[in-house]
Amino acid sequence: MLDTVSTRPEERSGPVGSIPSAGQTALARASHGILAHGRGVGDLLDAAIAAEGDLVAAHALRGFCAYLSGRSALRPVAAAAAQAAEVAACRRDATPDEAAMLEALALLGKGAWLAAAGRLEAGVPAAAQPALLLKLATGLRFMRGDMATALLATAAAVRHGDRNDPDHGYVLGMHAFALGEAGETETAEACGRAAVARNADDTWAWHAVAHVLETEARVGEGIGWIEGGRGHWSQSGDFRRHLWWHLALFHLATGGEEEALALYDAEIAAPASDDPRDEANAVGLLWRLESAGIPVGRRWEAVADRARAMRSETEWLFAALHRMVALLAVRDRRAAEESLEAVEAVGRTGHPEMRRAVSCTALPLGRALLGTVRGVAAPLRDAFGPLGGSVAQRDLFLRVLGEGAAAAGDRALLAQVIAVRRGLRAQDQVDALLSASLRRTARGGRPRPDEPQPALTGRAGGSGPLP
Ligand SMILES: [Fe+2]
Repeated sequence: MLDTVSTRPEERSGPVGSIPSAGQTALARASHGILAHGRGVGDLLDAAIAAEGDLVAAHALRGFCAYLSGRSALRPVAAAAAQAAEVAACRRDATPDEAAMLEALALLGKGAWLAAAGRLEAGVPAAAQPALLLKLATGLRFMRGDMATALLATAAAVRHGDRNDPDHGYVLGMHAFALGEAGETETAEACGRAAVARNADDTWAWHAVAHVLETEARVGEGIGWIEGGRGHWSQSGDFRRHLWWHLALFHLATGGEEEALALYDAEIAAPASDDPRDEANAVGLLWRLESAGIPVGRRWEAVADRARAMRSETEWLFAALHRMVALLAVRDRRAAEESLEAVEAVGRTGHPEMRRAVSCTALPLGRALLGTVRGVAAPLRDAFGPLGGSVAQRDLFLRVLGEGAAAAGDRALLAQVIAVRRGLRAQDQVDALLSASLRRTARGGRPRPDEPQPALTGRAGGSGPLP
């Protein structure tokens, strides 16, 4: 999310002083890169620290980037960066922005992501760079599935923020996405378009409007919007691959199967990536392609290999459940079980906020994917929100369950899936397919051989993702 390079000339000195030095200039560019999802943030932070070792914010941002990577392997990097920031803060007085970052990093070190987000948000009103603190907080809440609180924070920042702040447009972009996740699509779209008008490099705002168009099934407009902004968002960092993912989904919804597959191969697969967001993009698109009856050849293999290698990774539950879908897609049930066992373990030993998300959401969903127990009704009601990620991304889990329920003749679960989807988005072709399955199930019939089959059930040779 945050491995990104500023293309805008630095417009401010950063939170550490008013006289731009080489280090501060690099830090300012890194800060802007974080806001815009630009490229090379890590390199810019390194340059800032190399030029000026006691830049507290540079060390701190390194720590946040490591946490927000969603990779447990980077936890030591995050801890070391937090410690370096603390040491730097001993040599000079911390600014209010830096104090908020330091305290938030300390909370992250204890696994308290939501408390860390709260500390950052509390610092926004007095911050020299309110948009940056808000960006970090929103990233944490996005990953821990608390966009409702993120919406409160972005709304306050929009309401009370300085509209003349050159970064205020990025606040609008964050607010647009949070509004869209809450279903307030009309306001979200207006806000997102306003954000893009202020900062054409605001990839998050381009993305927020794409979500609105996806939610409202305005497919043609979605293609037009993403293509229209391509000259801007395609210059951003790794997050650009998620925009390509959205474009592929729009193409798929209009029958553009070849376009979607071509985008998968050219822009989304990213076999060398170790970013869990790339994993989720790949899994989500491949599953949807197969669900639409489109052969994907051997494309699952590389994705499943990666999922197998990462089956003990639980830093981001949203990604862990995507890995299970990939492993079941290639019928590696044992690795999928091991992935869920790792999730279960972190549910016993992790921070309380992680334990809640595991017990209330990740475990019931994971078990349903494995087809071992019933009981997904409760987490289904909030559309698996505590896993993190977006409504559009988590729609994958609803669809997997819906298709599995149809195959298993579980009318009650299928009806629930349809009802939840209808509460989240405009009716689409998927709804029609699932509704047809529900009607057949109500008649006591089974899907005909020529009808779309549940993807996981089909691949798993009948063992099925559901009881
Ligand atoms: Fe998205």
